Formats: sequence, structure tokens, C-alpha cells
Amino acid sequence: MNNRRQFLKRSMGVSVFVVMPLSSCSKSENTDFEIKVEYKTESWLDSKVDTFSYSMPEIELIQNKKTRIKVTNNLNEPTTIHWHGIRLENKMDGVSGLIQAPIEPGESFIYEFSAPDAGTFWFHSHHDSIKQVAMGLYGALIVKPEKSLNNSEQDLTLLIDDWLLNENGIDPNFTAMHSLSHGGIMGNVLTVNKQPGLQAFQIEDKQYLRLRLINVANSRIQSWSFSGLNPIVIAKDGQPLKDQYTLNKSLVLGPAERYDLLVKVKEIPEDGFKLNYDTANGALPIAEFILPKVKTDFKNEAYNIEKSVLVVPKKIDKTVVVELDGGAMGRMQTGILDGEKLSINQLVQKNMIWALNGQVALLATPMDKLELNAAVNITFKNNTSFAHNMHLHGHHFFIDGIWQDSVLIGRGESKSGVFYADNPGKWLLHCHMLGHAVTGMTTWFEIG
Ligand code: C2O
Ligand code: CU
Repeated sequence: MNNRRQFLKRSMGVSVFVVMPLSSCSKSENTDFEIKVEYKTESWLDSKVDTFSYSMPEIELIQNKKTRIKVTNNLNEPTTIHWHGIRLENKMDGVSGLIQAPIEPGESFIYEFSAPDAGTFWFHSHHDSIKQVAMGLYGALIVKPEKSLNNSEQDLTLLIDDWLLNENGIDPNFTAMHSLSHGGIMGNVLTVNKQPGLQAFQIEDKQYLRLRLINVANSRIQSWSFSGLNPIVIAKDGQPLKDQYTLNKSLVLGPAERYDLLVKVKEIPEDGFKLNYDTANGALPIAEFILPKVKTDFKNEAYNIEKSVLVVPKKIDKTVVVELDGGAMGRMQTGILDGEKLSINQLVQKNMIWALNGQVALLATPMDKLELNAAVNITFKNNTSFAHNMHLHGHHFFIDGIWQDSVLIGRGESKSGVFYADNPGKWLLHCHMLGHAVTGMTTWFEIG
């Protein structure tokens, strides 16, 4: 058996090694950053894997404070960065081909914006993202309130990914039509903060531990559970929950979704607790949290969560229905591409598989025009045989009683929500299973 195969096997197993938690090695209180987009060879156990990487895997911003981020492209191909979930100015949204020309090799671009919501966000390539995100172009974007709300809090960010590796490294066939017409590209190696195997995190002697968990997979819906304790769910997609709850089942989330969880350190059992990735064969521990040697008996200070500034509209000005069609075993027989009506076979010949409202328009034309500040009711109807994770740029919608920027819609399922179209510009709406996005499940709203 060669090394690669042994490695693939072992990385899904229980090899244990300790890493520095991501959030404590790359944090900066500065409001100005430089991100270099570069090649990086990861040493995963005894294998070398060539990836793309950001020189800063985590950025921390201060809420409402203008930040300038210089992005320098040291790859041999163009790229951009999208600041996922941030309600920023449209021209800083980073969508290649709609909002900005890509950053060419050797060039730089300065993104300048302020983040109106404190919480957990992320950033990733929005140019050829089916490939570039799979190659590793993602990082955590943490927005903190100006004054720290909780002095006795440890903050840990976990970016959870799956990589499709073959004997030579990352499988380069990002547009394998069979995968894209089904659930998308599914990996065979799991990583936490780009490290395979069970990761160990040392808990500090503080009253609270806040876990920020991000599904950065290309397509895979992840299901996570805990053993040892039940954390409290406090936020989703960078927006605090009005009703926090204790987690007593698995958290299921699509690519791009985030959850913030709170743990009271004094409730952690002696042997710590674990985060598991639920597989068909049971729960696979991917992170373990180890208690500090001293455990101060903090007096029970309340945990303060950031306030959301978002408002649920009471009366609706506009209703939008988004029908999701196509794919393998789909009901869609035809779709409109470039104004031409095509059968599903003809669509596939043009490398398109999915449609939104019967159209495969991608960036060419908006799905709809929305008046600035219109209160919009949006309904997603999933007519396909697969789940999709619909993401609206620059806004959060209120769906299932919570604010979200990405929402998982199961096969055959419908979901409705509301939002204010209060951010002028061209805002993408797409499935965050990136192979679905590039084969038809991409459109946008023109607002204002
Ligand atoms: Cu997270 Cu259009 O992206
Ligand atoms: Cu999809």
C-alpha cells in the first residue's frame, strides 16, 4: 500500500496531534491587513498536498470600523475575495465578473469596508470558486464589538472542510459532471483548520468558551454533535439568536453556514469534551477540548451576546418565488439558456445542469429588480432530488425564525422568509454547493 492510500485511511481515523488553535496565532488588533494569496504545500501526516492559501487564515475586525484590506495575488491565475455574510458596500463584495474585474497575477486590490454586524463570518475566493475554494482559498472573518462584552471569554474558530484527494493531491476534476448533477464534489479527507485527524484544543481558565464553527466544504452538508456536554447555541451566520437553546441533537448545516456555541467552562467534565462529525458509521471525533490545569470558580457573570440591528418587516411590498430545478432525477425537462429553450440534455452539453425559475442566466441578467428598502417575501421551492444551500449576498433573510445569510433547503422542501432590500447594488443569489452554482444555480437581484 502506498503512502497516499495509508494517509487517506488514517486521516479519517484517530491519529492525534496538537495544533495551535487558529484564532490565537494569527490575530491582530490592527484595522489594516495584507492578505497574500499564495501556493502552499501542506504536510498532512506523511503526505505533501499542494494547496492555495491565504497568508492570514483568520482576520478580526471591529464592528462599524472602516478597514482596509490589501489583497495581493501571488498565484498564476486571477482571483477575488468575497466577504461572506458582511452587509457591506456593493462594490466591495468581490464577485468576479459582476462587481469587479479579477485581481490578476502579481496585482493587488484594496478592499475597504466596515462590518455592521458583530459575529462569525468568513471570506473566500469568488473567482472560479468551484476550484479555488476547493484548493483552500478561505479564512475566518470575526467581527468583534468595539468594547469587549465579555472579559472572561475564550474564542476558538474551527473551519471544517472536506477535501477530495487522490494519489497525487487534490483531485483536479472540479467539474466532474456526475458529481455536479448530484450532491456536488464530496471530499474524502476531513480537516479542522486545514489539519486532518483529531485536533486538540487547550481550554483556558476563563468562565466561557465560545466556539465559532464554519462549514467551508465545497458541497458537503455537515452534521456535528458533541460528546461530554451540550453547548448553548447562541448565533447563526453572524446574527445572535433571540432564543438561545441547549443543543441536544446534531447540528446540520450546509456549506457556508456558521454556528456560534457557548460552553460554560465549569460545566466541562474532567476528561474534557469532543466535537464529532457524524458519519454513516457513527460519530467521528474531530476536535477535543482539554480542560485547563487550574479551574477558577468564577462567579456567575452573565454572558452578553451582541445585539442584532436587523428588523423583521411587518408588511410586505414584494413577493419573489425562486423555483429550484434540474439535476439528476430532476423534474426539469427544459431550461432557458441565453434566451434559447433547451432540453436538459442540451443544457448538459453546455455544461449546465441546474436552473432557477427555469432560467440558466448566471451573471448575464438579474432574476428581478427590487426597489430600495422594499420589504421582500422570498420563497424557495426545491423541485430537485437534492438539497441546496441558498445564499443571498449583502443581506440576511429571516427564515425559520432566525436571521441567516445561507439556508439549507432539503429535497422537495419549500421555505419562505423576509428581508429588507436595503443595500443598493447587484447582489448574488446562489447555491453554495459551488458545483451547483457554476452549472446554473446562480442569479442576482438588482436593488435600487
Ligand atoms: Cu460565500 Cu457567493 O458566496
Ligand atoms: Cu445546490
